[in-house]
Amino acid sequence: MDKYMQLFQGTAFSSQSPKEIQILKDYLFAINEEGMIAKVISPEDADYQPLLEAYRGKSNFHRLAEGQYLLPGFIDLHVHAPQWAQSGTALDIPLYDWLNTYTFPLESKFADLDFAKKVYDDLVSTLLANGTTTVLYFATVHKEASLLLAEICAEKGQRGLVGKVVMDDPAQNPEYYRDADTNSALVDTEEFILAVRELAKTVKQGVYPVVTPRFIPSCTNEALEGLGKLAAKYDAYVQSHCSESDWAHGYVRDRFDKNDAFALQDFGLLREKSIMAHCNFLDEPDADLFAETGTAIAHCPVSNAYFANSVIPVAHFHAKGIDIGLGTDISGGFSPSLFDNVRQAVISSRMLEDGVNPSLPAHERGVPESRITIDEAFYLATAGGGESLSLPIGRIQQNYAWDVQIIDTKLPSAKLPIFDENEDLHGIFEKIMYLARPENIREVWVQGEKVHSR
Ligand code: GUN
Ligand code: FE
Repeated sequence: MDKYMQLFQGTAFSSQSPKEIQILKDYLFAINEEGMIAKVISPEDADYQPLLEAYRGKSNFHRLAEGQYLLPGFIDLHVHAPQWAQSGTALDIPLYDWLNTYTFPLESKFADLDFAKKVYDDLVSTLLANGTTTVLYFATVHKEASLLLAEICAEKGQRGLVGKVVMDDPAQNPEYYRDADTNSALVDTEEFILAVRELAKTVKQGVYPVVTPRFIPSCTNEALEGLGKLAAKYDAYVQSHCSESDWAHGYVRDRFDKNDAFALQDFGLLREKSIMAHCNFLDEPDADLFAETGTAIAHCPVSNAYFANSVIPVAHFHAKGIDIGLGTDISGGFSPSLFDNVRQAVISSRMLEDGVNPSLPAHERGVPESRITIDEAFYLATAGGGESLSLPIGRIQQNYAWDVQIIDTKLPSAKLPIFDENEDLHGIFEKIMYLARPENIREVWVQGEKVHSR
């Protein structure tokens, strides 16, 4: 019989397709040395009982208690790590003012590595405790502090994709917070890429460098072009903000007489490994370009309610075949939880479909066929995030990483309202998605290693 590092027994929820979840009731999950799911075994399989007997009672056998369930770890496609220090504050002013009044002054403080360590340690632990096993991070313009974030992810066991932010345009960025000049922005980015690739050699769960122009308004054409070349040279991930708000979208139209999507494409920044945050104002050709280039969308529903001036037609973009995942957008979004963003993704889509202005007749109020279900929102937080990053994560399935969260629905201090012994499992899944709190997340595993328990 094959030897496994861990064997788990329990009921898991994973995505079968973007619209449907799969319920694996009382399955066995065999984890190999690399932390990958080597085998998923149903109770009807011939090797179920022999495996169970071989592992039962051993320290690497984990039987979930009654009321506990497995979910894939969440994948957060958009976090501004430094902004954790201002989460929940100053959300009632427009994006441009928020950036200049609060965000840039805060981010400039990450030149101080002691301050960076304090915030980044707390953030990575907090995200893990919220069930988030993979994160695509914006750090700051500072190369050293950005590398420190990658090191903290490596050490705490989170799969981190980290970008040193580029903001080089002296006309658009304050003197106290920008790259010294275009050349140093590009040199620092290349050195950062090489340093993270070196770090990655010893990190089981993976850390990855990300080419990160903050958004077009922050960057000169020369920087954008240089970053596109670096992305191609190192086959690196790329992230930025794209068509987020009326102001940001309008700025790019004024500068290039085209939308963000085509401007980013001109600079070589739309690639299979590109993930663009928000994308609320993509038009049809923009969306087609995303689908053709394999560029993914990081949908940030909580943040969008504050800064995006609109609800993104996420169902429409999904139907076009664009990869979409979810992002908290800390701190444009106040919450570190993708559970909160799953909920908001459903709520916002329903408000888009029905419309929100009660003085209009019902048939004029909304945009038909905009709603997504909780199953689809769960897909975005898990499998959709994995597809966006082209990594084998986000599903509880053979040959995927063992990145999971164990949810306890019977915790005395945070019991979910399950009163019927025979409640159907899809109903339990829905209750978990809508009602689970961080206390319910008892264990979090990344790449076969336990990285959080409470
Ligand atoms: N656009 C450019 N920078 C930012 C940022 O930090 N947050 C959000 N939401 N949008 C941005
Ligand atoms: Fe953002």
